[in-house]
Amino acid sequence: MTAVGIDGLEIWAGKLELDLPEVFAPAQGDDPGKYTKGLGLHASSFPDTYEDIVTMGANAALRLMRRKDVAPDEIGRIDVATESAFDKSKPVSTYVAGCLEQVLDGDFRHANKGERKFACISGTQALDDAYNWVRAGRHRGKRALVVATDTALYARDDAGEATQGAGAVAMLIGEDPDLVSFTQAQGFGSMDETDFLKPQQQFPSVDGQRSVQVYLARMREAVEDYESQAGDVHPEDFAYAPFHTPFPGMVRKAALLGFRHVSRDTEYEDRVAEEIGRQPRREEFDDLEGFRAALKDYTDALAETDVYQDWYARTVEPTLELSRYCGNWYTGSVHVARASGLLQAAEAGQDLTGERLLVGSYGSGAQAEIHHETIQPGWEENIRALNVKDQFRDRYDLTYEEYERIHDAHNHEKETDTDELATPDEEFVFDGWGRMGERKYRYV
Ligand code: COA
Repeated sequence: MTAVGIDGLEIWAGKLELDLPEVFAPAQGDDPGKYTKGLGLHASSFPDTYEDIVTMGANAALRLMRRKDVAPDEIGRIDVATESAFDKSKPVSTYVAGCLEQVLDGDFRHANKGERKFACISGTQALDDAYNWVRAGRHRGKRALVVATDTALYARDDAGEATQGAGAVAMLIGEDPDLVSFTQAQGFGSMDETDFLKPQQQFPSVDGQRSVQVYLARMREAVEDYESQAGDVHPEDFAYAPFHTPFPGMVRKAALLGFRHVSRDTEYEDRVAEEIGRQPRREEFDDLEGFRAALKDYTDALAETDVYQDWYARTVEPTLELSRYCGNWYTGSVHVARASGLLQAAEAGQDLTGERLLVGSYGSGAQAEIHHETIQPGWEENIRALNVKDQFRDRYDLTYEEYERIHDAHNHEKETDTDELATPDEEFVFDGWGRMGERKYRYV
């Protein structure tokens, strides 16, 4: 069977940067350690006044199409995944296509365009749709363009304000991919939950502590469902485990529970048993409470073992590097984590061809999905072409007062007249409103 997967990806970060320990924490009266150690975040990327989900998505897609030398008529579908959409009818993908048609030869007239919504998991769902479309043979030899783009802003003084971010990931999906191929096995954990939602409002209503618990519960179900299809996961099966990263501290929690699960009945459990004993089993306890208490003690001790810490440093830590400097990108977050792991490997000169990634996506509301991907021979060239670290370095560094003004400028309920802080250069910019309330864009 021909391989189908991601042929290439590009990342576009918001042009502004908010330093969390140095600028945000003191203004909030917080200890900087809450950000750097607790949440695992150093900076957020922010959209300038001329940036939004369309400009960032179109800028990422343009870089990708130019780099991969793909013309508009070679694209058979465009799906945008976002939870920051501004129109209930006209999909963001039409705006992105309109932008690209301003600068590329040809058009996307025959591409099927849409928009995917399920909180942060919809980027992965759009990849799924593209995979199924190619597998079904309806793609006429063309590729799909998937764009995950968000301005992940929270209301001022919401606990989530610490985890904000803005950026887009564009991905090309097709046959014989250069980056990673997908497989059929996948697992889901999905329940009607009220942890994070935006009922007719710009900024989310969030039950932050609950969303952390729901993430862990649905992820666990997804892993078990995946194992029912693909067989038990072993800690050595994967080079990296890129997971949805609302903040790195979330993945740190998930990774510990995940390792406890996949190391059970393996030589890893035997190795840590010398230090901390074996994992408690339910049948060894008369009551659930006693079992839970023993499991918590075991898990706390597991986190301190060299065996666990070595595995974490190799398999998870590299996937968090980019996220530490850009915050949560909602739909793009797990795709930033994949890129982050591969980028670290390329910089370290590792050869990953043929190795696997265990990818964990999550969307509040709530659903988790697990699948694995196989790294393709062209991965290194593709990943080395990313300039995301340069983008991070070149961002305009916000003062707290500027941050407050920029947040207001993006707040739909406030009328502001704020000047841009960065200088747009060879990119799409927001260019005002049309007669029917549509947004207009221009390439600078
Ligand atoms: N040094 C080291 N660590 C510190 C610290 C310090 N000075 N101060 C706090 N911390 C740690 C806390 O112990 C906590 O870690 P833990 O959960 O491992 O114990 C972490 O930093 C965060 O602190 P906390 O007080 O829980 O932060 P918070 O009440 O402001 O809220 C969230 C955290 C995640 C609930 C909040 O950011 C949020 O609502 N985010 C949006 C929703 C989200 O991202 N959900 C995730 C699932 S999608």
